[in-house]
Amino acid sequence: MMQDTHQLRCTGCARVIAYEDLKDTFRCPECGELYEVEYPAWSASAATAAKRNFPNPSALRWLWKERRASTDPKDQSGVWRFREVLPILRDEENIVSLREGNTPLYTLPRAGRESGVAELYAKHQGMNPTGSFKDTGMTAALSVARERGFSWVACASTGNTSAAMAAYAARAGMRSLVLIPQGKIAWGKLSQAVDYGALTCQLRTDFDGCVRVLSEVVRRAPVYLLNSVNPYRLEGQKTPALEIAEEFDWHAPDHLIVPGGNLANSSALGKAFLEMKHLGLVERVPKISVIQAEGANPLYRSMQSSDGRELAPVEAHTRASAIRIGNPASWKKAVRVVHATGGWVEQVSEAEIALAKAEIGAEGIGCEPASAVTLAGLKKFVAAGKVDSSETVVLLLTGHTLKDSDYTIHYHRGDLLREDERDPLRAEIEATRRNPVELDADADQVLRALDRAAGL
Ligand code: F0G
Repeated sequence: MMQDTHQLRCTGCARVIAYEDLKDTFRCPECGELYEVEYPAWSASAATAAKRNFPNPSALRWLWKERRASTDPKDQSGVWRFREVLPILRDEENIVSLREGNTPLYTLPRAGRESGVAELYAKHQGMNPTGSFKDTGMTAALSVARERGFSWVACASTGNTSAAMAAYAARAGMRSLVLIPQGKIAWGKLSQAVDYGALTCQLRTDFDGCVRVLSEVVRRAPVYLLNSVNPYRLEGQKTPALEIAEEFDWHAPDHLIVPGGNLANSSALGKAFLEMKHLGLVERVPKISVIQAEGANPLYRSMQSSDGRELAPVEAHTRASAIRIGNPASWKKAVRVVHATGGWVEQVSEAEIALAKAEIGAEGIGCEPASAVTLAGLKKFVAAGKVDSSETVVLLLTGHTLKDSDYTIHYHRGDLLREDERDPLRAEIEATRRNPVELDADADQVLRALDRAAGL
């Protein structure tokens, strides 16, 4: 009998199950922990893995590059281009793709100079089809849902997961159910979910409350859960790490900094780099560090108080609504990645996030607030002497600036932050504000504004 290409290993008790035995909430019935996908032929954890069966790293590097010139839709996807390291489907005909991935790696020369790092890059996952990093995970998990014959998919979301899920479900001809916290997600994201035809329920609770309700819904109705507890999401979200390695000619950068919310993304990127090293695709892994907002910092607190052994949920508050999460599902996976790669967990204030977002915007790139925690965190690492000027650092920007344009307008208008929040960074913030100037339809007035802006 042919061996299945993948199986699932519980990250708590290490029990391995066949993928058909995965239950609706994706938690181990023995210990309640989450699963991760394991490949019997080559995963480090698999007892059946033998080096002679490993794919050849040089052949893989060549094949993945060649596919960029192919016209086959599978090859044009920045996720499925790497399908040898995510063989999760029985039949590739089930792939649902919007040509996700293959996102740009930009240099950030000004932010690099100002933060004291010579080689600073932004891997911009906001340049995906629905404007966030969620697309790479969604193409993977939604294709699995289609292969398993589901007609409904569902998620609880702070906005980006729901936008991505709704789009991919629509492409597949499937229906989608979205649970979002009422009044707590950015308009751009809500508009996407309804535009793509999701049944969108705004619940009078927070994100963590939506997760609780959804876990009951999936037990009582035949809907497929697409939150990041779904291990297939993480397989798709590995691919930005492969792209980063490829862009550095298969040498890992020194440091990769990611925002932390539900903590799946840091886990996925860590899994990818550790697998790449195991397969001989890269020689070493980067440090992977996770940054949280001060008001939504359960992982930061956990690292401070118990080095990540215990996590106490918090009631989350931050204007970076994408990461307003108090009880992150994948925290244990994220702790493992931070420990395995030698990274750190840091927290940043509302003013630090807002300033960093303006600085990324001023480079002509832009991002949503949750993504800007990465630059704010880097500045703290440099100030603490944890990162030195010769290191190559990549910030993972997770969402497009247009996702939350209200935030940007309020920042530049000067009414985003309370005074006590803004005061420690008042001068820096004032220097970056570019509020629109209201004038009559008169060239003289425009010329005077030009002179003022040029400092004449
Ligand atoms: N950045 C953005 C823009 C996000 O939307 C999210 C999470 C994160 C960072 C954090 O990633 O959860 O893997 O640690 N958004 C989820 C959502 C929760 O529902 O869209 P994480």
